Amino acid sequence: MSDIKKVSVIGGGTMGNGIAQVFAAAGFNVKLVETQKKYAERAMATIEKNLGRLVAREKMTELESRKALSSIQAVTDLSEGVAEAELVIEAIPENPELKRELFASLSGLAPESAIFATNTSSISVTKLAAWSGRPDKLIGMHFFNPVPLMKLVEVISGHDTSPGVTETVVRISEKLGKIPVIVNDSPGFVSNRVLMPMINEAVFCVYEGVATPEAVDEVMKLGMAHPMGPLRLADFIGLDVCLDILNVLYEGFRDPKYRPCPLLVKKVEAGKLGDKTGEGFFTYPKK
Ligand code: NAI
Repeated sequence: MSDIKKVSVIGGGTMGNGIAQVFAAAGFNVKLVETQKKYAERAMATIEKNLGRLVAREKMTELESRKALSSIQAVTDLSEGVAEAELVIEAIPENPELKRELFASLSGLAPESAIFATNTSSISVTKLAAWSGRPDKLIGMHFFNPVPLMKLVEVISGHDTSPGVTETVVRISEKLGKIPVIVNDSPGFVSNRVLMPMINEAVFCVYEGVATPEAVDEVMKLGMAHPMGPLRLADFIGLDVCLDILNVLYEGFRDPKYRPCPLLVKKVEAGKLGDKTGEGFFTYPKK
């Protein structure tokens, strides 16, 4: 299975276009599946712009960039997109119903031998595996934003994921120039189980009047050598996304230590979601 060449990425949003780009740059043939032509075009335009940046920074030649771009074909028809896939990576929105529908369709459309990977940040990989009808071949391949720059791939082994599939996905991640780390399926995996309670605690510090958002972030940057403070990071991730993941941890473990801070809930209710809305714990230029 290590000779995988044909990869389909489903969803060309923030994560999907980055995933398609890194596969193409590593020499894979990529089909990028979107729901509508305008989204497919938007994804391709983003990839072209980001490859152009790499050329400008001399991380890649013009020829390599053109070769990468030409190895991505964007389509809107799922069956055309996965008919020949050896690896399918799902990067559609974090909505269990949408993902359930997609995996149910995929099992009838992709070749029997295809590996299914999900980029979910919080939904149980084991549950998605059961929905896919091929639980031994489904695995979590959790990339980080921005995908072309972030080295980590959290490889999440579900309850029934076969060791061979895990091994293949580890090797493929290395081919992309990434560093895979294998973990077992559990709410929040490792990344969000450690990160989100820290962000939540930072929000509690503001909520209880212990410190301002600026002060909380300065402490963590200067004292703990974090490149970005937890509240700035929360704004970047999206406060709605942080709240959803905390709720997954809270419900998954039924442990009050994951209780989302009321201030986080209030910010989300107020539509102050961080960078994307222009305001969260800090303010940003409107997008
Ligand atoms: P996004 O909303 O930017 O992109 C999702 C894309 O999927 C949209 O372009 C949408 O048109 C498309 N889509 C929806 N249904 C589809 C379908 N049935 N077939 C094909 N395309 C479809 O979402 P984003 O941020 O890229 O997230 C995708 C996944 O990655 C989620 O599961 C999220 O939890 C996960 N993730 C997100 C990270 C982030 O920082 N944004 C980090 C790590 C994981």
